[in-house]
Amino acid sequence: MASSRCEITERTESEPFDRRSSFDHLSKGYDDDMTDIYTLPDLPYALDALAPWCPADTLKLHHGKHHATYVKEANALTKQLATADPTDELKFGALQTAFSFNLSGHLLHSLFWTSIRPASGRPAAELASRIKESFGSFDRFAALFTSACVKVQGSGWGALMIDPATGALRVGSILNHTNGLAPGAQLVAVIDVWEHAYYLTHKNDRATWVGAAIDHLDWESIARRCDEAAVAVPVAVGA
Ligand SMILES: [Fe+2]
Repeated sequence: MASSRCEITERTESEPFDRRSSFDHLSKGYDDDMTDIYTLPDLPYALDALAPWCPADTLKLHHGKHHATYVKEANALTKQLATADPTDELKFGALQTAFSFNLSGHLLHSLFWTSIRPASGRPAAELASRIKESFGSFDRFAALFTSACVKVQGSGWGALMIDPATGALRVGSILNHTNGLAPGAQLVAVIDVWEHAYYLTHKNDRATWVGAAIDHLDWESIARRCDEAAVAVPVAVGA
């Protein structure tokens, strides 16, 4: 059994990640053999643990090929950006776009693996109360989340997030990997609705995949992320 947490970035304390701006990195440059920043997290369950709604062959392909490719590309693009010429606007812009796409793919998949779990269930009392406050009822939340997932045009994600202005839970959609949610929204759960997530088993029946995923949301992980989320950003309304 793998670890229960997804570590998204891997840097030791003695070699902290340099959080300067991208342009600072460009001005300094990196060695060609610079260390990979991003690593593929282990799944927090066995490959066959989500069957039959997500069989082992689908999960193995999804994690070991699709997610792994985002990690590989994000690392490669980090290195290319480190020495790219920002005055070559077309090439530099393409690298930035590709980097954003692949890093977002890595981060969203890392969150997805811990958004679902083998056992079905419902949120415990405290989170259930927060869901009721935010949506009116659990059933209303489930209907909204289902719609946000099923109605994504093409490829993307359904997302459960914390509204940074009020602290309320909200649902929304993410097209491809581009987060079109409110700035500062903190994601606490996502459901992958790219066809690679479900097509081998469910063909074009996205609704069945989404229904199973919502039944198997990992409410303990979601509650932990809610607890760890920053307090709401104070926003002056009508001041
Ligand atoms: Fe995916």
